[in-house]
Amino acid sequence: MNQLPWIVANWKMNGTADQVTLAAKTWQQQELSCRLIFCPPVCWAHRVETVQPNFYLGGQTCYSEASGAYTGHVSASMLKELGCTHTLVGHSEQRASGQQSQNVQKALTQAQQNGLTPIWCVGHRQPPLPAFDINEECDYITQTLHQERPVGGIYMIAYEPISAIGTGKPLPPEHAAKIVRHIKTVCGDVSVLYGGSVSVDNIHAFLNVSDGVLIGSMSLNIDVMDILIRSL
Ligand code: PGA
Repeated sequence: MNQLPWIVANWKMNGTADQVTLAAKTWQQQELSCRLIFCPPVCWAHRVETVQPNFYLGGQTCYSEASGAYTGHVSASMLKELGCTHTLVGHSEQRASGQQSQNVQKALTQAQQNGLTPIWCVGHRQPPLPAFDINEECDYITQTLHQERPVGGIYMIAYEPISAIGTGKPLPPEHAAKIVRHIKTVCGDVSVLYGGSVSVDNIHAFLNVSDGVLIGSMSLNIDVMDILIRSL
């Protein structure tokens, strides 16, 4: 964990073309002390120029097939052509909407075969547990990792407990630390990020126990992100 931390800014289905352009320009003009991956809505991805070495363009999902009659989906090769270097795969919002329920492993492979680094999102996909049970969460994660794990190649993992996504209720960093360690025990030397209600107040605590963070709602605020990036 002594390399620059990864910060993933996932804008989900938010932002206008001009807002994406402004965010990209703002962030890439800075001397970044992190590796920032901007995942705007795919329709505005062409607005993002990545001149700065630590600034990357990412997709929010990629489909498990290379091409074909899959209305509304985006392939890994399309993301590559747009200039993406990374893509999220298996985000819980994709899984919940049924967009990516079965074929996460194939989507990970598609990404890798097209020269993208997949950011494989894992975490309990049930509604918030009545009481977060860390052992149960580790068991669930082990099962997911074994089921979906890519056969080889480079990938990153974003651990995102569903109870923390968009709720303002982040996991206590000490729990995140335990799960990050657990994932590394199962998967070996991969970068493991934490995601779910990351804010200015808690980001440093999560960066202390992981290789980076995946930020949703807070990343939409360009000024706050600016302050945050400067504070690293
Ligand atoms: P959040 O979203 O930061 O708004 O909780 C995280 C995510 O969905 O990746």
